[in-house]
Parts: sequence; C-alpha cells; structure tokens
Amino acid sequence: MNRRNFLKQSISALGSLATISLLEDPLLAYDMNKTGNNKTQQDMKKIIIIDGGPRRNMNTAQMLQKFAEGAKSAGGHIEVKTIRLYDLDYKGCMSCMACKLKDRESNVCRFKDGLTPVLEEISTADGLVLGSPIYFGEVTGQMRAFLERLSFPWLSYNDYSMTAPKQMPVVLIETMNGTPERNNSNGFGSMEYCITRALGQPQRIVAYNTYQVKDYSRYELSGFSEEGKRQWRDAHWEEDLQKAFDAGRQMASE
Ligand SMILES: Cc1cc2nc3c(=O)[nH]c(=O)nc-3n(C[C@H](O)[C@H](O)[C@H](O)COP(=O)(O)O)c2cc1C
Repeated sequence: MNRRNFLKQSISALGSLATISLLEDPLLAYDMNKTGNNKTQQDMKKIIIIDGGPRRNMNTAQMLQKFAEGAKSAGGHIEVKTIRLYDLDYKGCMSCMACKLKDRESNVCRFKDGLTPVLEEISTADGLVLGSPIYFGEVTGQMRAFLERLSFPWLSYNDYSMTAPKQMPVVLIETMNGTPERNNSNGFGSMEYCITRALGQPQRIVAYNTYQVKDYSRYELSGFSEEGKRQWRDAHWEEDLQKAFDAGRQMASE
C-alpha cells in the first residue's frame, strides 16, 4: 500500500470510529439529530385514541376523528394513532395476578392477547383519549374490559397507590341519548377515578342527545321525537365536534 492510500484509509477509519462513538452516546446522538432536519423518536409526540364504540362512522367515531384532526392541526411532530377496540381480540382482567408478583411487579398488564401491544404503546404515550357511547348508563363492555387491563396493574395492593408508567393528559369522550338535564349516565364511573389518580385529572367532553340512527322513520323509536333530535343536533352537534377538535389541538400543543 502506498503512503497516499494508507493515509486515506486511516482517515476514513478514524472518521467511522468517531461517528460510531458519537452515535453510541444516546444524548449526543439525540442532540445531533435535534439540530438537524431529521426529528428523532424523542421529538415525536404520540397521542393514542381508543375508540370503544362498535360503529365506525357514527357519533363516537366522528368525535374521535375530530379530535385527531385537531391534534394534527397543531403542527409539529405529532403521531396520532386511533385504535378500535371492537377490531381487537382480547379479554378483560384475567385476575392472573402476574402484575403483582413479588420482584416482578409491573404496571403494564402481562397477560398476552390482542390488547398487549396497545397497552405497551400507551405506557410510553404522551396523551390518551378514550371515547365510548353510553350503554345502559356506562361505557361499553369493550371499553370497560380494556380499562380493567389498563388500570389493575397500576393499583398497588400494598398501599393502594395508583402508579402508571407515565403521567399524560387524558380526554374522555362520551356520546349518549340523554340530555344534560335528563340522563342516566355514570360515564366512565369508577374507572375515571382510577385514571385521575394514576394519570391526572382528565378533561371530559360529552355529546348529548345524539342521532342514534340516520332515519328515524325506518325504526320503532317512537319514544324519541325526531324533530326534537333534529333541533338539538342543529343547535349542538357542530359545537360538540368543535370541542373535540379544540381538545385535540390543545393536547398536541401542551
Ligand atoms: C345497547 C345500547 C344501550 C344504550 N344505552 C343508553 C343509555 O343508557 N343512555 C343513553 O343516554 N343512551 C344510550 N344509548 C344510546 C347511545 O349511547 C347513543 O346513541 C350513542 O351516541 C351511540 O354512539 P355511536 O353513534 O358512536 O354508536 C344506548 C345505545 C345502545 C345501542
């Protein structure tokens, strides 16, 4: 090897070594990327939206869609992921007690099924949105089963503290037939209490007196006045959607 080639190879080897050692230092690698145009995972804000309703395009889904639009409208590096519980195969808490095992205590559920990747993703998220229609005064069964799996690992049976892997803003969205004056809704009920203790006080957005079907004349629903529903919708629905949009924008901007 002549002198010129030897020097060329040595310089290139030194260069690679320097790059490797810089990139191996996570702080340096982060800072280097931060100043460049390429944003790292650390810069990305991740908002997880959990849709606990069965209908893809109706009231709850539309409210959650508006929330997502609001979050994306804030600009910046926002990842908004909507997960439909009715598309997943999972169970509520199995009472396996694996999250309370001595020396292996965990605040993320250890039971493996279709919910596992969702729960893992929530544990590192920067914001959480839970949406559900109200069924018989409560959130849907799917939402309840999901919340059991989310919350039970947070609860310590030693001192009854509630500890989530990470604190984050939470928005709860409910849609229902009832009105503010006349409703039977307990909303997220005791699960709201768990969420508040583990993650912080959630913001609650409720869309009342929703259209349950698109055309009331086709169904046995005489207990409802379609005219009353229409008037309510004209007066409130856009406002409800706007509240969801604003909450999304706010969460993404925090
Ligand atoms: C099984 C079932 C039970 C319901 N129970 C209630 C209820 O207890 N209180 C209420 O206000 N609305 C109740 N509703 C109405 C829904 O909460 C309301 O139509 C909701 O906006 C539907 O959401 P979606 O359009 O996203 O499916 C019920 C609807 C269904 C299908």
